[in-house]
Amino acid sequence: MTTIEGAPSSEAFEVRLEATTSTIDALTKIATPGSLSSGDIEQTASSLTAGKPDLIVFQPGDFLNTAIVVAERIDTLCPEISNVLVATPSPKVLERAMAAGMRAVLAPDADQEEIFAVLSRAASVAQKRRRALTSEAPGTPMNRILPVLAAKGGSGKTVVSTNLATSLAREFPGEVVLVDLDVQFGDVASGFGLEPIHTITDVCNQSESFDTTRLKAMLTPHEAAGLFILAAPHSPAEADELDPTLLAKVVEMLSNEFRYVVVDTAAGIDEFTLEVLDIATDLILVASMDVPSVRAISKEIAALELLGLEDAEWHLVLNNASAKVGLTVDDVESALGRQVDVRIPATKTIPLSVNRGIPVALQDPRSPAGRAFNELAGRAVPVQATNNGKRRRRRTAK
Ligand SMILES: Nc1ncnc2c1ncn2[C@@H]1O[C@H](COP(=O)(O)OP(=O)(O)O)[C@@H](O)[C@H]1O
Ligand SMILES: [Mg+2]
Repeated sequence: MTTIEGAPSSEAFEVRLEATTSTIDALTKIATPGSLSSGDIEQTASSLTAGKPDLIVFQPGDFLNTAIVVAERIDTLCPEISNVLVATPSPKVLERAMAAGMRAVLAPDADQEEIFAVLSRAASVAQKRRRALTSEAPGTPMNRILPVLAAKGGSGKTVVSTNLATSLAREFPGEVVLVDLDVQFGDVASGFGLEPIHTITDVCNQSESFDTTRLKAMLTPHEAAGLFILAAPHSPAEADELDPTLLAKVVEMLSNEFRYVVVDTAAGIDEFTLEVLDIATDLILVASMDVPSVRAISKEIAALELLGLEDAEWHLVLNNASAKVGLTVDDVESALGRQVDVRIPATKTIPLSVNRGIPVALQDPRSPAGRAFNELAGRAVPVQATNNGKRRRRRTAK
């Protein structure tokens, strides 16, 4: 393993740095060796990003490796912030800093003029990015909350939610989070082959001082799929401690930060699902192609109608759709009095993908099942106002 030396600590540099930051119109935080020494990446990232600085200047001393990992995490959590590294700029240091999304590397012997030039450029980039991220241009689509529901276990909710999130993240990488609200037996993480450190339980336990940065630190990223998950508790017993209202609040907070919040749920309408329905923009209803499942979803639809969820867009997904089970799509549609919007074929590829921990929509988006999930994602993309005032759906790229 290669080790790379960090910047030697230099008092004179600190003096020049301070003189510069006091003249730049930007909120700057300095990551000193002391603040990096704990090795707790999430905690360090969270405290450095608190208060939403424009610039974070890493002066890592002996903690260069930690600085790189923390900067990379910050780049994911708050991509608008410009991270700058102070280190002797060898090719290896430069390469690692750039790979971690850092904006610049400053040599410890840089003079004040150079420090000023680098930091003011980095600050101005950060401020522009922040404005772009927060601007509410007319016609900006509303972020969406999409609970995936089914009356019975085994209908395919988790398969649908993991693949829907994956298809959405292909078009909007980094802008999708999948929340596992099957709080007792949730298996979203395993569907992605992930072993999360933090779960919903940690989120609820820190509700005293709750902010978006801390919340984001509880998410587990899936790099290849370009999305985040908020995992279900490690054990069913933990579910007793969870507060459904607080979790709906968490979903709402996530929807302020992410374009799509897909929510996997337990069978039926439990109290967690009920709270999320209140804020849902879309309902994804999954029925499996068999008589008991269709009967059950018919009752669930009736119950949902009583709740008065007219504002949400409904999408009826028929899973295990296959010609050879003595039931036709027409039968299902007439039993439910609704049109089936998307059909997911019954295919061995799905259990194989579940067992492998790689969603079909990631591994094989062009397979029949992959295409079906893309079609569902295409229905869920934002509705935008068009020139003639009508509302029209944008389709996802296939
Ligand atoms: N279209 C399909 N074709 C084949 N198997 C499927 C299909 N959809 C789901 N399955 C299998 O059914 C099982 C239950 O699916 P899951 O998504 O976990 O259901 P739920 O979350 O509703 O309980 C999984 O093992 C999955 O592999
Ligand atoms: Mg499930």
